Amino acid sequence: MLFVLNKLKTIWITGGSSGIGFATAEKFLNEGWNVVISSKNKENLDKAKKKLENISNKSKVYSIKCDISNREEVIDTVKKITSEISSIDIGLLNAAAYSPNKTQEFDIKNYEVLIDVNLKGTLYCIEALKNEMQKNKNGNIAIVSSPVGYRGLPTAGAYGMTKAGLINIAESLFFDFKKFGIKIKVINPGFIKSKSTDLNTFPMPFKKSAKFAAEKIYLGLVKTNKFEIIFPTFFLMILKFGRILPYTLYFYLITRITGL
Ligand SMILES: NC(=O)c1ccc[n+]([C@@H]2O[C@H](COP(=O)([O-])OP(=O)(O)OC[C@H]3O[C@@H](n4cnc5c(N)ncnc54)[C@H](OP(=O)(O)O)[C@@H]3O)[C@@H](O)[C@H]2O)c1
Repeated sequence: MLFVLNKLKTIWITGGSSGIGFATAEKFLNEGWNVVISSKNKENLDKAKKKLENISNKSKVYSIKCDISNREEVIDTVKKITSEISSIDIGLLNAAAYSPNKTQEFDIKNYEVLIDVNLKGTLYCIEALKNEMQKNKNGNIAIVSSPVGYRGLPTAGAYGMTKAGLINIAESLFFDFKKFGIKIKVINPGFIKSKSTDLNTFPMPFKKSAKFAAEKIYLGLVKTNKFEIIFPTFFLMILKFGRILPYTLYFYLITRITGL
């Protein structure tokens, strides 16, 4: 009799120790995927792995400490996954630094940190994944951005700029990586409860749980072919509409809403 081994698929989730990344790891494990989580803080990562270990007896969770702002660490992590675990079917580039600016001060240090992690760090992950995925001409890279990147908002310059950059690079690479057999997607969540949003002091309309985000991300990555994954839909449609308003009207409305 011929036994055909059905190889499990593998997802690498950066920032898998908490929030959206952790909930998405849980979802993919439940769906029978092997999951590799990574994050910068080893203690958080170990705790997260422990919680995920008994979810499935079919699929397996692995953890590798990786600070995405360190290019060598990122390259080593991707090499380790592909040589010791499996080829990577999906790279979910979810890790990000966040520090809400409560004032309109221009804090260059905050810009530098967010550029290093959110922009440069995500680019290092894209580079390492591309070098591996192009060997088999197969793979998916999903970049977690934010609707804050759709348009400039008061006090959100540093974080918003990095997220705008990620949407733009995802659009560019959608074209450029076709020849390598690599599909690019971008994920733009509304407000989701997490360690990061717990720092916010402003009202967060339509805030959802990380579990809700994970369901939407799983559907978007595995069951659809759409380039952009957005949720919750109604709130995101409003934000998307804001994107096409002429500047005069946009500035007027945002000033009225925020008082800034
Ligand atoms: N929550 C929302 O409402 C919302 C909305 C739109 C977009 N997003 C985006 O969704 C993603 C996840 O956000 P979240 O709210 O779930 O955040 P979170 O709970 O604060 O989690 C952030 C994750 O990123 C990791 N991380 C931070 N700096 C890192 C670095 N230098 N290298 C590797 N890992 C690092 C953290 O790991 P450590 O354990 O090492 O700290 C943690 O696992 C982010 O890209 C965020 O911008 C979130």
